[in-house]
Amino acid sequence: MEYYPMYEEFAIFELAIWLGLSAWIANATPVLGGGGKPIDGGGLFRDGRRILGDGKTIRGFIVGVFFGTLTGIGQFLAAPYLRPILALFVTITPEMDYVLSISIPAALLLSLGALTGDVVGSFIKRRVNVKSGDPSPFLDQVGFILMALIFAFPLMAPSPNFVIILILTTLGIHWLSNALGYLLGFKKNPW
Ligand code: CTP
Ligand code: MG
Repeated sequence: MEYYPMYEEFAIFELAIWLGLSAWIANATPVLGGGGKPIDGGGLFRDGRRILGDGKTIRGFIVGVFFGTLTGIGQFLAAPYLRPILALFVTITPEMDYVLSISIPAALLLSLGALTGDVVGSFIKRRVNVKSGDPSPFLDQVGFILMALIFAFPLMAPSPNFVIILILTTLGIHWLSNALGYLLGFKKNPW
């Protein structure tokens, strides 16, 4: 078989995206289906501010976990077809195959973790007096992905290079989507 050394890095990048896909979808979809009763029931913390705020709803949480897990089901079904295509370009190492063969329970845990990380992020934001909807760079961008990886860890422990590239890509995508939102006129600031 011919070997393309440059594709090896590219394959690791692709698989890092593959690893993050269900958590990303879980994190992105609540905005489409959220609303209704807030998770904190409108309750206040002892500092007098909302525990989580109106931005975290039960429906949004369920919508996120649903679409994240659905993504995982799609990945589970697609993996057997993608493996031979990937094998055309690189020698698939056991580490690569491990990430490619993501299981549905692992995707469920990634999704649950992503939404839990989002909730924990809001809890911290309210404690440091950041209003619902106001940005908190690090928490908003990578909090959810870190918690997703922690939740899935008992079922899925990918090698560190995938984790590092996934975190960097998550930061990059956030930056890209904000810049795009600004250029298209949806956002006032490019960050
Ligand atoms: N959303 C929801 N339920 C969730 C998460 C999100 O309903 N568990 C919806 C809400 O309509 C929310 C929107 O998705 O306003 C965007 O989500 P996010 O940016 O995470 O929330 P924020 O409104 O920015 O609130 P916070 O400052 O608490 O993060
Ligand atoms: Mg927000």
